[in-house]
Amino acid sequence: MSAFRAGDAGSNPARGTKVIGMEKMEVPSQRAYRLIYPQLVVLVSSINPTTKKPNIMTIAWSTPLSANPPLVGILVAPRRYSHELISSAREFVINIPTVEIIEKAIKCGRVSGRIHDKFSEFGLTAKPAKIVKAPIIEECVAHLECKLVNQLTTGDHTLFIGEVVAACANEGTFDGQFMDIERVRNFYQVGGDTYASLSKELLKPGL
Ligand SMILES: Cc1cc2nc3c(=O)[nH]c(=O)nc-3n(C[C@H](O)[C@H](O)[C@H](O)COP(=O)(O)O)c2cc1C
Repeated sequence: MSAFRAGDAGSNPARGTKVIGMEKMEVPSQRAYRLIYPQLVVLVSSINPTTKKPNIMTIAWSTPLSANPPLVGILVAPRRYSHELISSAREFVINIPTVEIIEKAIKCGRVSGRIHDKFSEFGLTAKPAKIVKAPIIEECVAHLECKLVNQLTTGDHTLFIGEVVAACANEGTFDGQFMDIERVRNFYQVGGDTYASLSKELLKPGL
């Protein structure tokens, strides 16, 4: 693979004729978060503690927060139905979808569970989780069951901090250390309606 460095003159074969220059262009601060894209797309399942009806939302803003104790975070805008469910049930599941269900996964991010049953409408299966009451989504390849331990308003989103109380992955997808990304084609939001999955080629810079 030929390296393409910032400052190279000429064209980048992988990106048409666009050239990466040395000059720094200003980016409006409200768009700056897009400089840390692409972001892994996950599906967060939750449950209405009164009706027991489950819901799904698509999330591009999720992050590990601590290995010990095992904490993860998701950022949810207050107007989402899932926000209401996670605040009241105090639990959620992070499910990892793959390109095989990319259309269903994106549809879960386009309509609200206030008026749609996304499991039945998009043909996704709610399966009992091990510890929490929110279900796992069977068609996903990995699942992190979380109990809400804290929440923080971060401007226009809420950071829900979940302690991972159980986790599992489909056989053959996780070797005990890392996901096998040659087998598991999870995907990333590049921006807007554009997504990417990692190519088969693994980069191992000789550092
Ligand atoms: C690819 C993608 C990523 C998204 N990421 C987030 C996110 O990180 N946080 C958020 O609050 N909404 C995000 N959304 C929007 C919600 O998924 C969407 O508003 C969804 O309909 C909320 O469903 P609910 O009302 O049933 O909770 C994303 C949507 C898509 C398609």
